[in-house]
Amino acid sequence: MTLTATKNVRDYAIEAPQTIPVFEKLGIDFCCGGNRPLEEACAAANLDLDQVLQALETAIAEPVRPSDRELRSGSLAELISHIVRTHHAFVRAQIPEIERLLEKVYSKHGANHLELVHLRSVFHALGQELMLHLMKEENILFPYIERMEESVIQREPILPPPFGTVANPVHMMEHEHDDAGTALRALRQTSRDYTPPDDACTSFRALYTALANFENDLHQHIHLENNVLFPRAQEMETAHQCS
Ligand SMILES: [Fe+2]
Ligand SMILES: [Fe+2]
Repeated sequence: MTLTATKNVRDYAIEAPQTIPVFEKLGIDFCCGGNRPLEEACAAANLDLDQVLQALETAIAEPVRPSDRELRSGSLAELISHIVRTHHAFVRAQIPEIERLLEKVYSKHGANHLELVHLRSVFHALGQELMLHLMKEENILFPYIERMEESVIQREPILPPPFGTVANPVHMMEHEHDDAGTALRALRQTSRDYTPPDDACTSFRALYTALANFENDLHQHIHLENNVLFPRAQEMETAHQCS
């Protein structure tokens, strides 16, 4: 893989998923805002391009876990299964856990730390939106993609979906991903990059760690959908309709 300043951040993440932790660490958006050249992303984040390229080169030199390769080249059904079992399960498990921690920390420190008021309201809205979002994916979009792939494998015609084309729910999901990305940025900014205050108790620290992990997982989750699953599903639909 050639490392260039003009290659889009998203393409680095797709072609070499080992680069994702580097982008996470440096605060470079590789999912919703990943459709721009690396040099532009570095300039926007005030990062030295050569140092970033060096970090990417080191990450790429590490062996690719087989699962990463499988996710990009396996069937769409396998990819969907991975997303649901790994990322949807994580979101569903973490939302009540983080809500519980937020309430606990807010009740103890809310008076002295007004940032908790904002964190609480942003996370609560994000959690509600995400629960609906997962349901839409699991009940509408993903079953359609699985049926479409099955029709292609069986060389049968694709039954027209009630929503016209897969691009319609895909655009809706991408829009919701953008909203989630905005909420994640607000959480990060309000918590000063998840830096606990000096007087933070263990629960406060655990809350920030949990929120940082939640952000990390959601970035990977959205990346897999926006940059791998959705384009592949749209390509399959187009190719099949033309044949
Ligand atoms: Fe999802
Ligand atoms: Fe999604």
